Parts: sequence; structure tokens; C-alpha cells
Amino acid sequence: MSVLSIVKMGASALKQKARPVTAWDDALRELVEDMEETMHAAHGIGLAANQVGLPHDLAIIDVLADAAKSDKSELFVLTNPVMVETHGEVRAEEGCLSIPGLVAEVVRPERVVVKYQDLHGEESFLEAEGLLARALCHELDHLSGKLFIQMIPGIRGEMVRRKARKMARTGEWEDVHP
Ligand code: CO
Repeated sequence: MSVLSIVKMGASALKQKARPVTAWDDALRELVEDMEETMHAAHGIGLAANQVGLPHDLAIIDVLADAAKSDKSELFVLTNPVMVETHGEVRAEEGCLSIPGLVAEVVRPERVVVKYQDLHGEESFLEAEGLLARALCHELDHLSGKLFIQMIPGIRGEMVRRKARKMARTGEWEDVHP
């Protein structure tokens, strides 16, 4: 296993729409292991393949992974995920490993149902609420080439994006976990 480098806002990989996963083989399993180690090292709770510069329609999520909170783990590995249902709305703070140090409120569905294929290619459904639902929305946005700051409407969104662009331009990312 190895820790991969996470690309930051401004990298073209983050703007690319993911390509479908068609082989659930050892190479994919190794990549998932590397992504898991990378996510944990960065104290993240989710990571999409394009954040490590790869085009696969693949994301991992573990909302219990934040080492500051617990040593528990509940890893979801999703290939070719599709949002099939959303219910309600809830506003909460969100951040991203590709925009270190920036946190902003985003309105997301309260509950979602996502269809995906697991690490063996088997189709499955994940029904989620709260932080897991939010993480699913965030990672699916990544796989569509979008960052969470693009999901904030109005003047507030403009201000958040301006701040993010400045951080990207200067490379002055705030390290949340020094
Ligand atoms: Co992110």
C-alpha cells in the first residue's frame, strides 16, 4: 500500500467526468487500498479517484474514519455510482481534501439513495442520511468534475469561490491537520 498525492483545486483532473469502471480486478483492489491509506493519512472521510489524478468512476467513503473522532471504520467502496433518490434539504459545513483549509456551508439532501457496483462489480443500493448522505453527494460531484464550492448559489457562493481561487493561485492552503 502507498499514500498517493492528492491533487488540489486548479488541477485539470478535478474537472474531468469519470470514466466507467469495467474491470473489478486486482489492480482496482490495489488502487482502493492506496486510496484508503491516502484518505486516512489526510484525515478525510471521502476520496474520489480523480483526486488522485485517475479517471475511474470510483470513490471511497468512511465517515467514521476521522482519526480525531474514533478508531472505528466503515468503508464504502463505490464504482459507477448513480444518485437515484434525494429527499429533503439540510445545510451544513463541508470541506474537501482538494481545497485544504476551506470550509463552507452547502445545502444537500437530507437522505439519498445511491445505486453503485461494489468492489466485485455486484450492483447494490446504499440508502443514507446525515453525514454519509452529504459525503455521497460530495463524492458524486467529484466524479462529475465538480467541486463542492460550485454547489453554493448566490453571492455567498461567489465569495467562497473567490477565496478558493485565491488559495489555489497562491498555493497557500491552510493545513487543517498539521
Ligand atoms: Co472533495
